[in-house]
Amino acid sequence: MITINDNYLKLQASYLFSDIAKRVASFQKNHPEIDVIKLGIGDVTKGLPPASIEAFHKAVDEMANDASFKGYGPEQGYDFLRDAIAQNDFQARGADIQADEIFVSDGAKCDTGNIQELFSTDITIAIPDPVYPVYLDTNVMAGRTGIFENGRYQGLVYLDSTKENNFIPALPTEKVDLIYLCFPNNPTGSTISKEELKTWVDYAKDNKALILFDAAYEAFVRDENLPKSIYEIDGAKEVAIEFRSFSKSAGFTGTRCAYTVVPKECMAYDKEGKSHSLHSLWNRRHCTKFNGVSYPVQRAAAAIYTKEGKAQCKALIDYYMENAFTICQTMDKLGYKYVGGDNSPYIWIEGNMDSWEFFDMLLNKAGVVCTPGAGFGKCGEGYIRISAFNSHEKVQEAMQRLTKALG
Ligand code: MLT
Repeated sequence: MITINDNYLKLQASYLFSDIAKRVASFQKNHPEIDVIKLGIGDVTKGLPPASIEAFHKAVDEMANDASFKGYGPEQGYDFLRDAIAQNDFQARGADIQADEIFVSDGAKCDTGNIQELFSTDITIAIPDPVYPVYLDTNVMAGRTGIFENGRYQGLVYLDSTKENNFIPALPTEKVDLIYLCFPNNPTGSTISKEELKTWVDYAKDNKALILFDAAYEAFVRDENLPKSIYEIDGAKEVAIEFRSFSKSAGFTGTRCAYTVVPKECMAYDKEGKSHSLHSLWNRRHCTKFNGVSYPVQRAAAAIYTKEGKAQCKALIDYYMENAFTICQTMDKLGYKYVGGDNSPYIWIEGNMDSWEFFDMLLNKAGVVCTPGAGFGKCGEGYIRISAFNSHEKVQEAMQRLTKALG
């Protein structure tokens, strides 16, 4: 008899964004006359930077000729991309990351989900609340939690991010082994200072713990004093793995390219306390289960590090941040409290009502899709998240509709 991994039965019925997509599809079916504006899932709407498109086309043409054709590439990514990443994203900011510590992949979602395979099932995990659901669900699937009860999985240490702590969780009071952090934060849009981040690095060092740092939204950081990478903090290379993505920084959500940094100093331990290189383990996993991102996609990604590519990506980010500003302005006028929107494409709004009810109300009264905060965890109850990813016209229209519905 084939039996299932019964950890899957502990999961909530469906993945948050699939659930929302289904609700929106059913609303659209019943109200075909309403032009629904989507400010829910953080999916980009603008075309790829011209520099990427040019490199993409050129690489596709190379694939047409035997002489320049590429078959299987290096699983970890081509050197031209890994070198560009190391130099531009890290060394230029004083973070000593080398090209061979970078693993190119098809998405930060997959990487943050897959990385937990390297760790034993009996570790103690600290997970923020609210949180990007992938960190949580993948640990449930792996059997690192008990059942779901009263809005939480048993066996996890939840790090509450609330308005009382400015949406930056306090260090755990008990000893944990694995810590998930995401800044600029998804979903709250909050940011962390270097001093605050250093307290987490110090905690990890003191407890032989590991930080999984999701920096998928670093491109939206405008305040020069804020860290874009955890490796800007002394000692972080020993205790942190960082995830990055071209999805939001260069519009690659449909093109798929991201990377994970696993420094060579970064260690985890066996039952006898002997240290093992996470770089070697992740390399082993990557080579066994992944065959690399396609050559044209890697060429398109590398083009964002050219002079033109950098300027075009900056323009993309500026465009979405104008939307964030419009959303924040509307919330100010309507008297809603919020965080985010200044160094992040997400605005986390205190709705003063059940967050799914707020979601339904915005959909029904304004034809606008947001993300209910409760979908990100218990501490998200009472909040909604609005994303700045859409055209200026749609965001302005959405804000007019919201003003009418909520004003
Ligand atoms: C989000 O809306 O939270 C993100 O777009 C989801 C993702 O990047 O997978």
